[in-house]
Order: sequence, then structure tokens, then C-alpha cells
Amino acid sequence: MNVGVPGPDAQVVPMRLQRFLARAGVASRRGSESLMSAGRVRVNGAVVTEMGAKVDPAVDVVEVDGRVVTIAKSPVYLMLHKPRSVMTTMKDPEGRLTVAEYVPVGEHPGLFPVGRLDYDTTGLLLFTTDGELAHRLLHPRRKVPKTYRALVDGRPDRAAITALERGIDLDDGPTAPAQVDEVEAVGPRTLMEITITEGRKRQVRRMFSAVGHPVIELERVSFGPVRLGDLAPGRWRMLSDSEVAALRDAVTDARTED
Ligand code: URA
Repeated sequence: MNVGVPGPDAQVVPMRLQRFLARAGVASRRGSESLMSAGRVRVNGAVVTEMGAKVDPAVDVVEVDGRVVTIAKSPVYLMLHKPRSVMTTMKDPEGRLTVAEYVPVGEHPGLFPVGRLDYDTTGLLLFTTDGELAHRLLHPRRKVPKTYRALVDGRPDRAAITALERGIDLDDGPTAPAQVDEVEAVGPRTLMEITITEGRKRQVRRMFSAVGHPVIELERVSFGPVRLGDLAPGRWRMLSDSEVAALRDAVTDARTED
């Protein structure tokens, strides 16, 4: 599993031209060599017949019979443990620190965060280049559960917890049912765990404020089936194949594929 600092991506290092052609699905490696020998392959406009020639898929333009061929890159899925005081955006016009500083966007152009966490919220933030899966994960109809650990002022009583679970009347409408549990008392504060299936702006903070227990610290610990685990703040890691499959499952209907 790939963890932490961006490293070279095996998909974009230079490779032999016949391997590139095979990976692009043009022909088998042997068949690609025949195409090269026949003078049908150009790299950056020049015919290449030499079998040892290498290409860098990130920069070289390869043509077969005048048609550009490319290797389809598989989508990328990773998680970041977003630290506090960081904007969830890939670019901030005011020059503030953004999540883009923490993830390998140079190696994976098109990487973007799935939803957002507030400036002061920490925890699990998914990133992908797969727009379709991201769209599904964020669609209100999918009701993907997101779990947060919230350190709140005071100690919510049973009535407050029931109100949070049933739905709070916020200024943008009532919240959907949630699951709320007390984790532990921390002096005059309480560590709570809350799972919501919506993604409204500052939703968890507004919900706890509405019952008289403002949030002091907020961390997202899971997104659907994916858990933050012990990933340190500021670090990222690729999702495993099984995590990606579980995310897909979480947003795929048994009957329809939309
Ligand atoms: N709810 C909030 O209040 N803030 C977040 O960042 C996420 C959920």
C-alpha cells in the first residue's frame, strides 16, 4: 500500500515503445514490434523502428498510422487525514493553506476531494479522479453514512441525544435521523460520536449548537465503509482494492446502475 509522501508512479515512468503500444491495447508486444518494423509508429512526429526506444507516456505523443494512442490511466482513490486550519479546496485565491498541499496532485492530475470538511475539522477526506463515484457518494439520495467524533461543551442529556437522533430543525430544514452516542466525559466536556447521512454545511456543529452543546473539536472517522484508522494528521494513503469495492457497493443499487 502506498503511504505518505508522493513517489514516482509506475504508470508514468519511461517504458519501451512496444510495451507502451501493448498497454494501450494496439496489439500484443510481438504485434507492436511488427508495427514498429513496418514504420507505422511515430513518436513526437518521427518514425521509430528501433526496438530499444523508450517513451514517457506523460510527455511523448505516440501515433500508429497517424492516430494518437494513449494508455488509459486507472482512476486513483486515496484518503487524507486532513489537519486543522486547512481549506478543503485545491486552490485558494487568498493563498491560505489547502488540502492540495498534502496530496500527490502532481502525479495524479484531476485529483479532487470528495465533499468537504470545515477549515477547523480534522479527519478522513477522500480524494479521487473518478468523478462518477464521487458524485454518487455525495448524492443525497444515496444517504452514505459519515461518522464524526465531536468534543462538545457540557454533557448532552438523554433528551438532547434523542432530539439529535430524531432530527433538528435547522434553518435549512430538519435533519434526517442520526445515530448519536456518548463516548466519554472529558472534564466539563463530552466526547460524542455521531453518524449522519447528509452533508450539509457545518451540519454537525449546527446540530450540537441547537441542543446547547457547541462543538469544540470535530473529526471525521469514517466515510461509508472506509475508516480513518491510525493514519496520522497530514498523511495520505491509497485506498485498498477492497475499500474501493466497498465504496462502490455502498452506492450501487441492486436493481439499477444509476
Ligand atoms: N459537519 C460539520 O459541522 N463540519 C464538517 O466539517 C463536517 C460535518
